[in-house]
Amino acid sequence: MLDSVKKRGMKVNVRKTKLMVFARSESTTECGILIEGQKVEKVKDFVYQDSLFTNDGKHDRDIERRHKGGAEYDPYCDPDNPIKVEYEEVLAASRRMAGAVVRTPCPLSHLSEKLNMDLYMKQEFLQYTGSFKERGVRNTMLLLDDLQRRKGVVAASTGNHAQAMSYHTTDMGIPCAVVMPETSPITKISKCERYGAKTILHGQTLAEAKRFAMSLANEKGMIYVNGYDHPHVVAGQGTAGIEIVQDVPDVDAVLIPIGGGSLVCGVAIAVKHLKPDAEIYGLGTEKCHSMMDAVKQKERIFLTIDCSLADGLAVNKVGVNTFFSIMCGGLVDKMVQVKEEWVARAIMHIVESERIVVEGSAAVGVAAIMAGLLPNLKGKKVVTILTGGNIDTTILSRALERGMAAEGRLVKFKVTVTDRPGGMAELCSRLADIGVCIKDCIPERAWVKADVFSVQMKVLCETKGWDHTNKLVDTIKRHYKEYTFTENIQDKSSKRGPCLARNPVCMRK
Ligand SMILES: Cc1ncc(COP(=O)(O)O)c(C=O)c1O
Repeated sequence: MLDSVKKRGMKVNVRKTKLMVFARSESTTECGILIEGQKVEKVKDFVYQDSLFTNDGKHDRDIERRHKGGAEYDPYCDPDNPIKVEYEEVLAASRRMAGAVVRTPCPLSHLSEKLNMDLYMKQEFLQYTGSFKERGVRNTMLLLDDLQRRKGVVAASTGNHAQAMSYHTTDMGIPCAVVMPETSPITKISKCERYGAKTILHGQTLAEAKRFAMSLANEKGMIYVNGYDHPHVVAGQGTAGIEIVQDVPDVDAVLIPIGGGSLVCGVAIAVKHLKPDAEIYGLGTEKCHSMMDAVKQKERIFLTIDCSLADGLAVNKVGVNTFFSIMCGGLVDKMVQVKEEWVARAIMHIVESERIVVEGSAAVGVAAIMAGLLPNLKGKKVVTILTGGNIDTTILSRALERGMAAEGRLVKFKVTVTDRPGGMAELCSRLADIGVCIKDCIPERAWVKADVFSVQMKVLCETKGWDHTNKLVDTIKRHYKEYTFTENIQDKSSKRGPCLARNPVCMRK
């Protein structure tokens, strides 16, 4: 029977218990499934469920795209036929990719003691382009056939996916176009160009860039690679999960940031297979919570997101396949949203204790623990994935300042002192006496209510934390009549930062 099928120019593919037979011509597609030698079922059933991970079946989704029509239709992410990636695909990806991406370490964090748990940090920022996104991209590129490799690939992204695509396609000699909104930062555009991709600026938003990228792919016969939903991307990201269980075999919980959902799905598939009792926590922020909303409403809803410190998680609508996989159950045990201010504080603590710079999206695991959102993890073995290190230097410095302010370590106040010789010097020496470091000090003479022999000093200083800040407040109150502290410092009993985030509830002093 197989011979007769082959003679008719059809391709044959045997997978598990199913024998799949399909044929193609330029204009038409005839497909079918023979199950245990029986007659054929419909095309779509096997095209979507079985042929994806087989070499021979790759083109069927492209053919299907022509059938379904529409430039915005992505055959790999079809809402009518979502795909759940299996552990075998993740394992195969891990073997396939060996040596092509960094096998990142997962050491015990210095923060463990402070946070009352054995906290391990999977250091994905050590990938060449600075994020885990390389895993999914490399796996997807390795699964392209010769024709697809010659025609090339398209992505729409301004972030880590774009960089990973640019680098790995160049490495493999695959033409790659990355479409970005016209408003994209020059640094991001030039990074992709430096890695070797052709960058195309189109539209004002990522949604517009994506639409253009998909129509370009359609027109040129290139493959559009969705960075958070393509099943090969999901399988590639999952390889990090295999490594986590290898390095921390008795892991109790894994904390995973969620944007479109590829990382959480891939890693959960691997971890739940290898260590079924390990818990998976999906993390978003108060601004980036598309997956949480989608799961709650049982529908992939569109979330409007303005600027977020965790910009890698700023996905308006989660993936078709990732949403489906999570809704099937058994992958993610709990999802939490953390305030952005805690993300800034987490970045600061990671810099200070680990000497590591991570981007906001990568810090959400530590942020959630610090914010006291995961009290049940006390005393447990926990892995958090430091997913990327691509943070702008200006954003980093702002995050560090916000973090310090939120912890009462950066204090701003105004105080009126005498403008006679020695008045300012006296203020400085009073601050020096209690070990407070002045970062900035500006005298204001024109717009002050006090007499003309007074000057208002606007002071920004650094302290060791809330207790030290309280000492500073007491010193100023004792020696001066007119002073104003920023709201958070005045309200010292509540120990709130400007972001209204409380002190870390589960951190030891
Ligand atoms: C640094 C970082 N962490 C986490 C994520 C979220 O990954 P996913 O979209 O697969 O959920 C991203 C996505 O781009 C990212 O760049």
